[in-house]
Amino acid sequence: MDRIRIRGGRPLTGRIEISGAKNSALKLMAASLLTEGALVLSRMPRLADTRFLGQLLAHLGAGVEEQDGAKLSIHAAAITDPFAPYDLVRKMRASFNVLGPLLAREGRAKVSLPGGCAIGARPVNLHLEALEALGAQIELEEGYVIAKAPSGGLTGGRVTFPMVSVGATEHAMLAAVLAKGETVLENCAREPEIADLAGCLNAMGAQVEGAGDAVIRIQGVDRLHGADWTVTPDRIETGTYAIAAAAVAGGDVTLAGAEAGHNGALWRALEKAGAKVETAGDGVRVSRSGALKAVDIDTAPYPGFPTDLQAQFMALMAVAEGASIIRETIFENRFMHVPELSRLGAKIQVHGNEAVVRGPATLKGAPVMATDLRASVSLVIAGLAAEGDTIVNRIYHLDRGFERLEEKLSACGAEIIRESE
Ligand code: EPZ
Repeated sequence: MDRIRIRGGRPLTGRIEISGAKNSALKLMAASLLTEGALVLSRMPRLADTRFLGQLLAHLGAGVEEQDGAKLSIHAAAITDPFAPYDLVRKMRASFNVLGPLLAREGRAKVSLPGGCAIGARPVNLHLEALEALGAQIELEEGYVIAKAPSGGLTGGRVTFPMVSVGATEHAMLAAVLAKGETVLENCAREPEIADLAGCLNAMGAQVEGAGDAVIRIQGVDRLHGADWTVTPDRIETGTYAIAAAAVAGGDVTLAGAEAGHNGALWRALEKAGAKVETAGDGVRVSRSGALKAVDIDTAPYPGFPTDLQAQFMALMAVAEGASIIRETIFENRFMHVPELSRLGAKIQVHGNEAVVRGPATLKGAPVMATDLRASVSLVIAGLAAEGDTIVNRIYHLDRGFERLEEKLSACGAEIIRESE
């Protein structure tokens, strides 16, 4: 199994090209099932997760073809069988999002329940309730969701989400675009990935209004057509490298292609911590020369501080002066990086959903183990700031969501290599 070795202490300087957003790309790929035409996605991140979903789409009958220039063409001219087996869904939760498109197009679908994952139970009740509000009949049988649309197809409906959910908002959109009549979704998630999905669906002929706001209105259409769409830049990759740039004094990195407006909460936190954040011609420049100061953060749905950057920010706070309180409000078990950061010398105490990080700690390299995607990259950031060698094991987690991580970091002066055992 591969691992990553980092020799810490060197500031990052240079330019990093930001890839397309994993969490957008996955939903856009699911949207390809809504049409007989080809959906061609540009700025596609090449990741284990997008490959897994490509395999599922191929299993469902789609032609999936990687093209030059980070393009992916998906052509679901016909669905062979609207059945997503456990083995293909369990690898990656976002595969569950094929349920809505299959149901909308074929009138029936059988999709494995995704199960829990390391960061929390992550139920899908809100996804299913939204589909029911569009007329779907849903049964759960032996770990599968068996969904049927009424004989005339799904019908528009009103869904008021009891809590904000990115996946459920997207899932409802993916089904409602082909439902008869109007659907109104209330208390929607407002993440940039949702506006990206709406933009792509509209390019395919859908009528979605209000994505990015709490209320989304969708007028169903009879059919969608193929389209070309460019995936929005990955705000979590952007934020991760921005935090990495601030982790060692002297860091100065331009995040090329980043969308500055998608990371407001992080920029505010980084500036309070002592970093400088400027919009550069084609992205964002983050640098740090003075001392790092402790800052408190609470994770929250967009536009709040993203849970997907909490672990990385905690690694930064480990080397900042003072005590920082980090509150995780989205997932119940998203502090698994704490024991591993502690192995590197970080001083962190966890009380329920709150972590108190007391800095500055002098981090010292050690072998550590990745537990999930964002936790893994927080260990990479800590390794960049530590003295000596840090070895991050189980990096298949990193490969799920960070494209060419070692290459991008070493181009900015980091000493980081991938080793095979
Ligand atoms: C998306 O997950 C992202 N994944 C996550 O990124 C991200 O952390 C999360 O949104 C929050 O921003 C993808 O887009 C593929 P939610 P999602 O539904 O949609 C509860 C990463 O590292 N909930 O907004 O699954 C849920 O348990 C990943 O890239 C229900 O109770 O998140 C959580 O507490 C990790 N019932 C909260 O809502 C439901 O039916 C928010 O989850 C659905 C969710």
